[in-house]
Amino acid sequence: MSILVVGLQFGDEGKGRISGYMAKDMTHSVRFNGGPNAGHTVYDNKGECFKLHHLPCGIVHNNIAVLDAGMVVDINKLADELQYVKDKGLNPTVLISENVHIITEKHILNDSKNDTIGTTRSGIGYVYADRALRAGFRAHDFKQELEALGICLYKGRCPDLGDDSGTLLEGAQGIMLDIDYGEYPFVTSSSIMPSHVHKVDVTVGVMKAYTSRVGQGPPYHQDEEELRNIGQEFGVTTGRPRRCSWLDLDQIDYALGIVRPNVIALTKIDILNDMDIYVYEHGKKRLIGNVDTYLDFLCSRFPQIELVSDSPQGEMIYIGE
Ligand code: IMP
Ligand code: MG
Repeated sequence: MSILVVGLQFGDEGKGRISGYMAKDMTHSVRFNGGPNAGHTVYDNKGECFKLHHLPCGIVHNNIAVLDAGMVVDINKLADELQYVKDKGLNPTVLISENVHIITEKHILNDSKNDTIGTTRSGIGYVYADRALRAGFRAHDFKQELEALGICLYKGRCPDLGDDSGTLLEGAQGIMLDIDYGEYPFVTSSSIMPSHVHKVDVTVGVMKAYTSRVGQGPPYHQDEEELRNIGQEFGVTTGRPRRCSWLDLDQIDYALGIVRPNVIALTKIDILNDMDIYVYEHGKKRLIGNVDTYLDFLCSRFPQIELVSDSPQGEMIYIGE
């Protein structure tokens, strides 16, 4: 069984929480794109909060953590992150593909000096550029350093991911930041979907009840300060305030057309209690009503979705037919 979790917006949809929730019954959690540009917040069974960048969220449920080809890794930051999870009581098993590309000081320096789109300045564009130029360093070249951290390298397809494993494929960022399908050039430098190597049984699209965005790009409608404050919309990786606005139905239709999820996990609807809720459609802002009206609206606007359960942190999980 293999479940893929993908963001339907601009990242920060709450994929971490959903991945954590889904990982409970899994044996392996796999990251396949991006690197330390990602910032995922996840809670373990005791309610302890973890903020992760490279490691998949399923690690809090003792899933084996797989850093697969397609990812880019900053070894210094990964070492700190491993120490951080160990200090919080985890004893993770981490596997890394020999083909993962390694972020160097030079990549970070270039990203910081030449950033024109508001990147996370973690060297992402430059490491993926070197990958495309066939000039990069890969995990293979840093075998000793990685093994010293207790990380095992593997060749090709991760040998652990057989038919018997329960695999959670944890996407980073969101489809609107995809290098091919996102709002180029205001995108990240990787694909948001996994490669064909990964078999996917169920795709979960994560959708936040409103829109947020860090970095540049078209202003996603009028910025709503109230949403930013009640939603605590500040980047996990950079601490930057996120621009916030109401859900854009056309953007979601576009994302659904690309990702084609079987399941939509709706996050952060609980924080909209006591607010007048709006949506944008064809560029126009429209009042929907309160949280209950909004939920009814979403279910009829996206008729394939149906309430299944509430997770402990208040996200509502919806499942398609
Ligand atoms: P980069 O991935 O650091 O090159 O940044 C490119 C764009 O993607 C910038 O607008 C970033 O703010 C955005 N971005 C990258 N990763 C994330 C993420 O995990 N969440 C939200 N935005 C992200
Ligand atoms: Mg994030």
